[in-house]
Amino acid sequence: MSERSLGKDLLGLESLTAEQITLILDTAEPFKEVSERPIKKVPTLRGKTIVNLFFEASTRTRISFEFAEKRLSADTVNVAALGSSVQKGETLVDTARNLEAMRIDMVVIRHPSSGAAQFLAERIRSNVVNAGDGTHEHPTQALLDLLTLRDKFGRIAGLKVCICGDVLHSRVARSNIWGLLKLGAEVAVCGPPSLMPLGIEELGVTVFRRIEDAIQWADVLNVLRLQLERMHAGFIPSLREYYRVFGVTVERLERAPKDLVILHPGPMNRGVEIDSRVADGPHSVILHQVTNGVAVRMAVLYLLAGGRPELAEAAKGKGEVAE
Ligand code: CP
Repeated sequence: MSERSLGKDLLGLESLTAEQITLILDTAEPFKEVSERPIKKVPTLRGKTIVNLFFEASTRTRISFEFAEKRLSADTVNVAALGSSVQKGETLVDTARNLEAMRIDMVVIRHPSSGAAQFLAERIRSNVVNAGDGTHEHPTQALLDLLTLRDKFGRIAGLKVCICGDVLHSRVARSNIWGLLKLGAEVAVCGPPSLMPLGIEELGVTVFRRIEDAIQWADVLNVLRLQLERMHAGFIPSLREYYRVFGVTVERLERAPKDLVILHPGPMNRGVEIDSRVADGPHSVILHQVTNGVAVRMAVLYLLAGGRPELAEAAKGKGEVAE
């Protein structure tokens, strides 16, 4: 596979090179401008049909993909487990093969099972984009986080980024760790031992047990949601206790040697992992992340469809990102 292409599918950042990740971020730059126009549409994917298979709840990712597809002029269909033949016991592959029989081009899939996106990609001809599979990866979330950090600091290399909270259940953490390390950042994680995967240090990250230590070290905190729906045992004593010990609060940040940039992938549990005054404060880039999500997803869809990044860049500002 060329460093200037992504291949057939985007399943995770673990399998991408630094050059491929940078290619996606660079390709997203001209697409940012499309969303700022009065008419937010370019003809880039005219004639392509994309199916969004969302078998797990989503606000940001599902709507962001849908906006990205529509702004690229693709035809889109949304399928949820509820109301589809999945409820009657149809398998994932049978659902996808039936959609392919209607001549689709791409599938964007969110699924509660780790590995579901790869399983599908190996069995259908269409391009597959992983929109979050179980606790495995959420590559477009990490890409939009990287783009947001690059906007803020002008670089990724050398940044000290601490991913805080429920790392155990977090596909966002895994994709961020792969992406940040490949682009030369220093990465740490911080959270209670019960929410930390065994052997996480072997990925090349530092582990902090106290949020105060993480705040002293970091340039950036990426604060994770406590994934209560994936917790089937007593991982934490109580939400109040978690906030008291690990909550990212104004008081804790005031003791930092510098202003820390705050990311959160959403949806947030305000008053659990993050103080509302931090989430809405001057150093939060949480809504900037959401804005960048559309541009990153446009870039991913464009590249998987065979688009050439130099044409996207050349067309910037001319009202037509390259066909
Ligand atoms: N960040 C994220 O994946 O949010 P949603 O679950 O709302 O898509």
